[in-house]
Amino acid sequence: EEENVGNMKSQLTNLFYASLRAAFPHEPDVVPLVVASTTKFGDYQCNNAPGLFTKFRRNGTHYMNVHSVGQAIMMNLPPSEMIESCSIGGPGFVNVKLSNNWIAKSIQKMLIDGIGTWSPRLPVRRAVVDFSSPNIAKEMHVGHLRSTVIGDSIARMLEFSNVDVLRRNHVGDWGTQFGMLIEYLFEKFPNVEDVNETAIGDLQAFYKESKKRFETDLAFKARAQKAVVQLQGGESKYLQAWTQICEISRKEFDKIYELLEVHLEEMGESFYNPYIPKVIEALSNQGLVEVNEGARVIFIEGFKIPLIVVKKDGGYNYASTDLAALWYRLNEEKADWIIYVTDVGQQQHFDMVFRAAKGAGWLPDDDGTYPKASHVGFGLVLGEDGKRFRTRSSEVVRLVDLLDEAKSRMLKEAKEKQKKRLTNGIAIQWSEEELEQIAKLVGYAAVKYADLKNNRLTNYTFSFKQMLNCQGNTAVYLLYAYARLCSIIEKFEQNIWELKTTGLLVLDHVDERMLGLHLMRFSEIVEEACSNLLPSVLCDYLYNLSEYFTKFYLNCQVVGSAEETSRVLLCEATATVMRKCFHLLGIVPRNKI
Ligand code: ARG
Repeated sequence: EEENVGNMKSQLTNLFYASLRAAFPHEPDVVPLVVASTTKFGDYQCNNAPGLFTKFRRNGTHYMNVHSVGQAIMMNLPPSEMIESCSIGGPGFVNVKLSNNWIAKSIQKMLIDGIGTWSPRLPVRRAVVDFSSPNIAKEMHVGHLRSTVIGDSIARMLEFSNVDVLRRNHVGDWGTQFGMLIEYLFEKFPNVEDVNETAIGDLQAFYKESKKRFETDLAFKARAQKAVVQLQGGESKYLQAWTQICEISRKEFDKIYELLEVHLEEMGESFYNPYIPKVIEALSNQGLVEVNEGARVIFIEGFKIPLIVVKKDGGYNYASTDLAALWYRLNEEKADWIIYVTDVGQQQHFDMVFRAAKGAGWLPDDDGTYPKASHVGFGLVLGEDGKRFRTRSSEVVRLVDLLDEAKSRMLKEAKEKQKKRLTNGIAIQWSEEELEQIAKLVGYAAVKYADLKNNRLTNYTFSFKQMLNCQGNTAVYLLYAYARLCSIIEKFEQNIWELKTTGLLVLDHVDERMLGLHLMRFSEIVEEACSNLLPSVLCDYLYNLSEYFTKFYLNCQVVGSAEETSRVLLCEATATVMRKCFHLLGIVPRNKI
């Protein structure tokens, strides 16, 4: 096992490994399960004794009781400055109390060497994160917001863990809808030169109009279907129209990515199109593709309906593209982890694609080994009426409008706050521009955070009131807490480096210790959030961190106390970890708001 200085849990796990190997050399498979426990006996706990005892009894090996198994584990622990004391509790559980001194020293070391030394180690070199992925000419809706925000956070966490991340926008830029779009474009603009953004105006409206034509006019429908074939056959006039439509749509999407400050690389469905025939050929040669009702399909155990890879009319579909994309990502891009972020409604699709890939030997059967493909599904966004989130006129909610609204609500609040502050004589006087900036920062952060903090699999109710609340687990609360923290340490900014290198951090007060211990858990939490692809784990951590800090600050005087230096260092460490959490969630905090 490689030593990871940042990850307290893995360091402790290594100690227990050593102990288990020494105590029970004939039990090579025992994995030490070290969990944080809420008991007052210790900070971590090894729960292996009962399982081992049962096994020994079965084998006829004699251990008097479960307590003595625990005893053996405890006695064989290598000496370590991490551990303050150990004790045996309940059914042979080994409780570990970590050393205050060690916690303090580790935190101070991070302050000097940087939070990067606390980044997790993952057994992954390169990952593809396929996220956002809206469809050209169609609305980018709240579902795509979830995908964008969750995907960005996952990418950030992996990047922090030193994984080479390919951020892929798998836009829907290749499908039968282009037939009607192109045909409608030709109809509206017989002169190609007339086509441009302003002439088309609202691309979504354009999509709707063309769809209506498609559904009501048979001649148009026939032309549109022919146009698909012409486009896919590579006829230049059609390709040109397609390029124009994509370009207009792309500009719309880019505006949103710019607002959200999310970076993505577009590699849409069309990119993989040239690879499809080869990939399907290879699968056919392996005997995996069968003909079923005129289509070419892959049957997958446990699924009633097969995965269609070539349609009856010879065309390709969503699944053909995803098979080719998976092949490309594994073989050309050499990714070891391929992560897809979409709503849970697409789970079956990805299940089938992954199973087909396993059948073909592209991926190992065992999900515990790499290369690996994972679907990160998320639930629906609901309105406050508990139904699918819609506008009053029952249209899909436009992303831009949501962000705008969050911002303008925050702006209103910030202005009121400003007024109050002035009457109270507190002299922060923001300019109009600064207020605008703050409102944007906090408003957008609130939308992002509300999306991330829920376990992503459950549906969530979109509520401005809730997400913009300055109390509770919201970005607003956290950003204000961070700014307050910054104002405490501001005075020490000038000589903070000196304090870090010559001062001494001690954790004598119980609330100092609790805060310090929580800071030390940062690395294992990020690792857990990465491995399980759950940004919500990091949100919970951040919220708890700010609670531990509040408690500490309430009970421990910082400025002007005898422990001032140590406590300033603890504040500085909290600010450092909070800042990193925000960053991993795609939020940029401000020192002053
Ligand atoms: N464009 C799809 C949608 O809007 C999402 C694509 C997800 N990625 C993938 N490789 N299939 O639902």
